[in-house]
Amino acid sequence: MKILLTGGTGYIGSHTAVALLEAGHDVTLLDNFSNSKPAVLDRLHTITGVAMDFFETDVTDEAALTEIMKQRSFDAAIHFAAPKAVGESMEKPLHYFKNGVGGTVALLQTMADHGVRNVVYSSSATVYGFSDDLPLVEGAPTVVINPYGRTKLMCEEILQDLCRADERWNAIALRYFNPVGAHPSGLIGEDPQGVPANLMPFVAQVAVGRRPELTIFGDDYPTPDGTGVRDYLHVMDLAEGHVAAVEHLASDPGYDVINLGTGSGISVKEIVAAFEKASGMPIPTVIAGRRPGDGPASYADANKAASVLGWRATRSLDEMCADVWRWQSQNPNGYGD
Ligand code: WQD
Repeated sequence: MKILLTGGTGYIGSHTAVALLEAGHDVTLLDNFSNSKPAVLDRLHTITGVAMDFFETDVTDEAALTEIMKQRSFDAAIHFAAPKAVGESMEKPLHYFKNGVGGTVALLQTMADHGVRNVVYSSSATVYGFSDDLPLVEGAPTVVINPYGRTKLMCEEILQDLCRADERWNAIALRYFNPVGAHPSGLIGEDPQGVPANLMPFVAQVAVGRRPELTIFGDDYPTPDGTGVRDYLHVMDLAEGHVAAVEHLASDPGYDVINLGTGSGISVKEIVAAFEKASGMPIPTVIAGRRPGDGPASYADANKAASVLGWRATRSLDEMCADVWRWQSQNPNGYGD
């Protein structure tokens, strides 16, 4: 299939590009580098041996999208391009609605204008909020706990309305739990700008000496060791889940929503211990109060992905940490400036 990846030089987009090429698909990347670096393109070429077509484009720019769709005929799009920081979304909600929702509408409109009606959408488990009813199934109640989560839920609803209005559309929203890890080559990985908000990249930066210690946000949760529990999955498993989803689209008319997780919960302390084992480096920690908006536990019921897509996460926590460490130790400053 000929596939357009928006946000294709980002963390998940770049790993998905590798998995799609390995599966024999033709991939075109689109990105505005607002949260990624041009160096990713060279790394992808090194890994895959393919110089993928790339367009430096903002996904809200319908005129630019139209030019691309005029030049190339796509079978499907996988839409990653959107701002994704929960904290930032609280400070800049309009930025999130303009780019997260507006970008999705601009892409879908351009696709419709050019007869491209197959889309996989990058959604998030954040739409579930925090529930005591675990593991989380796709039919679980959704609740908005921040503007970022609201953009994800709004885009899911836009896709549902579009598929209801025009049955020629096929759309799958993938609700990611906690993606971590890096391609085993160590050439691509997670490279957050500024201070990492997420646990794994912060731990990796402590291990490589960029940060003195990890602050654990709360150890008084009702969990086995008191720290937060999440469903961490390897980004290559996640990437392969996108391959399965885009290949499944044509045989799954209309709209569908599918969790991508391992089905297991892992605590902050377990992540720290696993990373110390993988890196051989100590991870000093300090305990602080709970982070606003956080909850005790979140992990997926992963059975629908297995039954509908024939996909399950296979990579272990040790593999996740070993691959992050290889990426981080080979690239202490990420992709650099
Ligand atoms: C994991 C655990 C923290 C950092 C977020 C978004 C979600 C998705 C994934 C986009 C929690 C603890 C963290 C630190 C810590 N992103 N922690 N010290 O919050 O589950 O999910 O990223 O789709 O939308 O909400 O991930 O990695 O931030 O936190 O103790 O310095 O690690 O309290 O228990 P989270 P996280």
